[in-house]
Amino acid sequence: MDPERSLTIVGGQWGDEGKGKVVDLLSAKYPVVVRFNGGHNAGHTVRFADRRFALHLVPSGVVHSDVTCYLAAGMVIDPPFLVAEIDRLHAQGIATAGRIFLSPRASLILPTHQAIDAAREQARGAARIGTTGRGIGPAYQDQAQRRGLRAYLLADRERLAVEARSLMAEHNRELASLAGAAAVDVDAAVATLVKAAKRLAPLLKEVGPELRHHAAAGRPILFEGAQGVLLDRWWGTYPYVTSSSCLPGMAAASCGISPSLLGPVVGVMKAYVTRVGSGPFPTELEDAVGDGLRERGAEFGTTTGRPRRCGWFDAVAARFAVLAAGIDAIALTKLDVLDSLDVIKVAVAYELPDGTHLDTVPADPELLAAVRPRYEERRGWQAETAGLTHATELPPAARDYLRYLERQVGVPIVLVSTGPRREETMVRGDHPIARQFAEVMGAGAARST
Ligand code: IMP
Repeated sequence: MDPERSLTIVGGQWGDEGKGKVVDLLSAKYPVVVRFNGGHNAGHTVRFADRRFALHLVPSGVVHSDVTCYLAAGMVIDPPFLVAEIDRLHAQGIATAGRIFLSPRASLILPTHQAIDAAREQARGAARIGTTGRGIGPAYQDQAQRRGLRAYLLADRERLAVEARSLMAEHNRELASLAGAAAVDVDAAVATLVKAAKRLAPLLKEVGPELRHHAAAGRPILFEGAQGVLLDRWWGTYPYVTSSSCLPGMAAASCGISPSLLGPVVGVMKAYVTRVGSGPFPTELEDAVGDGLRERGAEFGTTTGRPRRCGWFDAVAARFAVLAAGIDAIALTKLDVLDSLDVIKVAVAYELPDGTHLDTVPADPELLAAVRPRYEERRGWQAETAGLTHATELPPAARDYLRYLERQVGVPIVLVSTGPRREETMVRGDHPIARQFAEVMGAGAARST
């Protein structure tokens, strides 16, 4: 593997597409994995053998003992949460010493950010965004406002205490003006923060120089995006989005490196669509079919446990995501969840109430909420694909569905996941990224259309 084989993985829908599994698979051959956006709003699940790791901040590559992990400047970090996550990894037998590094430029989330997030959501009532309640928006807001705290302070606990105390006092004054919000106990919060700082200070390291060094030494890098294109602060269904950018460009900005180091972009998408939280969702199914997808796909949030909204694959939104994020190839997950359906629908265009056609995701959420999808129907395969590992084993109708999605979206599907475990995966086609995946997954990986 040469550094040219660096790859950037982003979510191609509204998050929860299964990026954790894809990153975990690839980490077998990628010695360096970087998280570049968001915070512990993300929930990346990695399963192998009978073990399950729920990761929120640490890159999914961490479960491979020879992978070095970086948390880049564009992330927002809740220090005690990061300590707890590292401790959980240790408890599960994963040694992390010398393998996890945090950018001193990352922003810190304080308990008051979380309290403000919750109080604002409460105040919004029916118009709430449905955030994860983790303080992500308020922390990014403070960063943009240039009053937030950054991770370099973790190395100077006295200064950290002073600055955290002052910012939290300001936050508490804001909380006093929000109905039903209680002030945060600043003394207790500072004590917890300072304790976490002691653990995290040794992890501080500038990420850009490290990555340039890895690239120069011939080590390929895997950039692991969180959330998805439709939750991007600029290109997602604003305002029902997260507060970071989920696009590959964010990886370069967050790490402070040339975009030329990012490599090709793989968009992870589900064979259908899910969304958590509020906001327009044109192909949402509020019926027994949607319930079936939720149940069979175990569509409940890793971070909040909330049931996810489920719907048909939306080719309009997928094309939009491919263009906005420069996605070169798709890793399609959860194909097996569709196994029992006799008919599978795919949205190929949107129609406004006045009959106007739209073939993209509009900027205005009210317009998006008003569209009616125009569906095309595909025959279901009504056979088990769960656990299949070779594309040649797929029923003809499943192969037809994959080829149909490729035609609709315009980029190849190079990887198909048929279950939560590492081995329940197939490589497909002979696109250079598919060949790269096959190499990573070893000789056992089949390549076939
Ligand atoms: P926040 O990122 O907590 O501010 O939440 C903003 C929106 O992004 C809400 O609709 C969340 O449900 C959604 N969101 C944030 N993180 C994730 C994720 O990792 N998966 C899916 N949705 C997410």
